[in-house]
Amino acid sequence: MKVKNIELTSFRNIEYEKLDFNEGVNVIYGDNAQGKTNILEGIYIFARGKSFRASKDKELIKFGKNTAYSLLNFNNSSGDTTLGVEISSSKPKSFYRNNLKVSKTSEIIGEFRSVLFCPSHLGIISDSPSVRRSFIDVAISQLRPVYIKLLSKYNNYLMNKNAILKREDISEQRIKELCDIYSEELALICSEISEIRQDYINKLDHYVKEFFKDMTGGRELPTVTYDASHSLKEGASREEIRQKYLDLYASSREREIKYGSTLYGIHKDDLRIDINGKDGRFYASQGQQRSLALAMKMAEGEISREATGEYPVFLLDDVLSELDEKRKSYVMSSIDKRQVIITTCEPSVFKGDNESFIRIKEGKRI
Ligand SMILES: Nc1ncnc2c1ncn2[C@@H]1O[C@H](COP(=O)(O)OP(=O)(O)O)[C@@H](O)[C@H]1O
Ligand SMILES: [Mg+2]
Repeated sequence: MKVKNIELTSFRNIEYEKLDFNEGVNVIYGDNAQGKTNILEGIYIFARGKSFRASKDKELIKFGKNTAYSLLNFNNSSGDTTLGVEISSSKPKSFYRNNLKVSKTSEIIGEFRSVLFCPSHLGIISDSPSVRRSFIDVAISQLRPVYIKLLSKYNNYLMNKNAILKREDISEQRIKELCDIYSEELALICSEISEIRQDYINKLDHYVKEFFKDMTGGRELPTVTYDASHSLKEGASREEIRQKYLDLYASSREREIKYGSTLYGIHKDDLRIDINGKDGRFYASQGQQRSLALAMKMAEGEISREATGEYPVFLLDDVLSELDEKRKSYVMSSIDKRQVIITTCEPSVFKGDNESFIRIKEGKRI
């Protein structure tokens, strides 16, 4: 999969730019705060359905304007596609495929696939569980559209159940009755999502081992395992997982009412990353944590290729300057033969033999 060009209008600090990319390494460079990451944001919005750093879509609209646009042209083995997004200050954003409006964002997720790597991702091993959940959710969503639907259904039920748990205007008996209805639904979706996450994490484990071995010479063995909220052993069937959640909900009803929130479910899942059997969060050095984070990102690309037959587009946001020479050259040699769009303040680290360069100043290409 290759990006041909991106056209941004009133997007962040970019008034209007159309940028073409080559099929290999593309370097977007310039000083800080000029709009380099804004360009990646305009591309990645099609992989994720929303920005990777703005909490509200409106933040993407250029100050003083009412509407921002991003138009992405890319190709894959089945041909060329144009995806567009219109972000308005007065209505929800709309996505377009080949100029036709799509009814739901989830319809376009998975068409343009991309692996994004930001400096903050280097901390994924020791960050909070929500960061690791988000990593696998974004990765799986691009490969299995049904997953987004399951997640959004789950979040709706969870929100409703939590609202009921907090109600003070009805009896405790009534709260229990209403919650049981939601718990049934939640247990079912938990079993489906757990199965998909387990499958993804098994693949992640396989590729992380491979990349990490390559990077470090194989003295240390990482393992990535699913630290699921159901705490059943790997290999439990979907029905066993569903039953386990029903049991957990039944036995925690009093506590759930006390705390006003749902205490078990896929929103409590985590990934555990060990090195030589020791929990990476506590025992891996900073260097090892960075190598693991790199291996996870590389693995994400590999799983995407395995599932779809082609590599996703790699977006590297200012991440090379954070890495030492060894890791930097490892990344550059491993992403050979894939399309990569890199932002950096230091273009001099690239030899310039195979790369295309785009210089950005104050939101403009110069
Ligand atoms: N909605 C917006 N409208 C106009 N400018 C914006 C908007 N959001 C961010 N900016 C500007 O964009 C710049 C940051 O762009 P960014 O792509 O993060 O920089 P960098 O080149 O360091 O990656 C800042 O100057 C910021 O003021
Ligand atoms: Mg930046």
